[in-house]
Formats: sequence, structure tokens, C-alpha cells
Amino acid sequence: MIRIQVPATSANLGSGFDSLGIALTLYNQVWMEEDDKLDISCTDDVDVPKDESNLIYWAVKQLYQECGRKLPGLKLIQQNNIPLARGLGSSSACIVAGILGANRLLGNPFSRSDLINLAAKIEGHPDNTSPAIEGGLVTSAMEGGRVFSVSVPVSDKLKFAVFIPPFEVKTEMARSVLPETYSRADVVYNLSRSALMTASLFSGKLENLRVAVGDRIHQPYRSGLIENFDNVFRMSYELGSLGTYISGSGPTIIAMVPTDSMDTFIAHAENHMTEKGITGWDIRFLSVDSKGAQVLLD
Ligand code: HSE
Repeated sequence: MIRIQVPATSANLGSGFDSLGIALTLYNQVWMEEDDKLDISCTDDVDVPKDESNLIYWAVKQLYQECGRKLPGLKLIQQNNIPLARGLGSSSACIVAGILGANRLLGNPFSRSDLINLAAKIEGHPDNTSPAIEGGLVTSAMEGGRVFSVSVPVSDKLKFAVFIPPFEVKTEMARSVLPETYSRADVVYNLSRSALMTASLFSGKLENLRVAVGDRIHQPYRSGLIENFDNVFRMSYELGSLGTYISGSGPTIIAMVPTDSMDTFIAHAENHMTEKGITGWDIRFLSVDSKGAQVLLD
């Protein structure tokens, strides 16, 4: 069997709606091989579809079709460490696992850039799929059905405190609350900040991050979907966050924190949330994954 390891991803980083994303050190593992029937199982108790509606299977089938090949059947084993519908790229991780795995099963007919294009086409936007494949901080734009992207490393002076709430928000719903149009002032506000975000994360000019997360495109409309949003946001800044944002379409909230104060930050955050009666949130301490998805032979 082959094993595909795919990182979690955090899209938008506040200002970079549908264009910025970062890969994080939390991974799904997927084992697969061709079979004469469909056989899907999990190493955990996460409830994923075990039939043809399974997203990994569906992505595998897409790639076989692109190649003009019929998929006989598939044995698929999933280890689902990326929580579902929390804004950490779980669906992109499935798509990427499916197309990278299928590409390997077929003898690698597609280039990395073909796979980046296909993954974004399936997902509809590239800001999770590109960093899931490439690793690092990825800036992407789509033009004529193709993704134009650059992955850059992120300063190691920075870590990510990831606050995962005990409830889901589906991306489709989180997109449905956004306006159809924006003013020129709001567009300029976001453009300037997302450019600042990329340059600041790359160069390590971390004092810019608090301004760079500023956003008028999605977060003001989505914050109401996240119970205790104000509490967690305010707390993160009181404890020394350099910049806090809704990860992807939420509901996870991420605080970017200096590496040397991360342990204290997490300990204080846990105490604060307990005192405020905010329960059930999972707080993770993650770094940037620089390698992206890997196909391995076990
Ligand atoms: N850029 C997307 C959004 C990420 O914010 O809706 C979620 O998939």
C-alpha cells in the first residue's frame, strides 16, 4: 500500500481571503491500493462516508478519469487527525490525498503543477489545496483555470496557537453570509494587508502582523457564527498574540505567538478559558509545515 500524509492548512490568515494559506504540523494519513471493490475503513472513530460519496475516493476517481482510466475499486484506510468542518482544511486534505495517491498508483502521469491545478478546481479555491501540496506559506491566484502560486518559508520566531471549538461551521454556510460586493475602501484595506501579511511572515517583521490580519471581507460577517469569538479574540491579545484571525471559514481561531512565549501563552489561555466557563475547546500548539503532502511507501 502507499501512504499519503497531508498537512492541515489555515486559509485566509485574516486579510488574504481565498488567496493566502499556510500548512501546519497536524497531519492526516491515508493508505490506499487498487482493489476489485470499494473498501473504506478508518483507524479512528471519525464518521466518514464509507461509500462512493467518500471525498478521497471521489478525488481518486477524478484523477483516473482525467487519465482516461477506469478505477476498478479501492482499498482505503483513513487516519483523520484534522478535525472536520473546523476551518483547518479537512476537505482539501482529502482531495489532495486522493489525487496525489491516484497519481502515484498510475505511475505519476501528472506534474506537481497539474495536481495543484486539479486540486483547486475540485475545491473551488486554491488557498487550502496549494499549501496542503506545497507546504509553507502559499500565495495563490487563479487565472484561466490555472493556479499561479508561490510557497515561501515562514520565520521560525513564530508559532500558531490553534483554538478549535467543539462545534462545526460548514464552509458553504460561512460563505453564504458574505456580501456580494464590497466598497473600494474595503478592497484596498484587504489588498494592502494581505500583501503585508506575506512579506511580514516571510521576513520575520512580526510587529506588522496585528495590522496585517485586519480584514473587512469575511471576518466581520463570520464572527457571529462562532460562540465566544469575542472572548477568545480579546484573551489572545491580552496574552500577547501578535495577530489573531479566524482560520479559513472558521470556527477555529488562530493566534500567532512568538516561539519563546508559546508555552506560557497556552497555559494562561487554558486557565482563562476554564475561569470563563468556555469548555470543550481543543487548544493545539502548531508550527508551519514546510514540506507539504508526501507520498510514502510503507
Ligand atoms: N477561503 C475559504 C473561505 C476557505 O474563507 O471561505 C475555506 O475553505
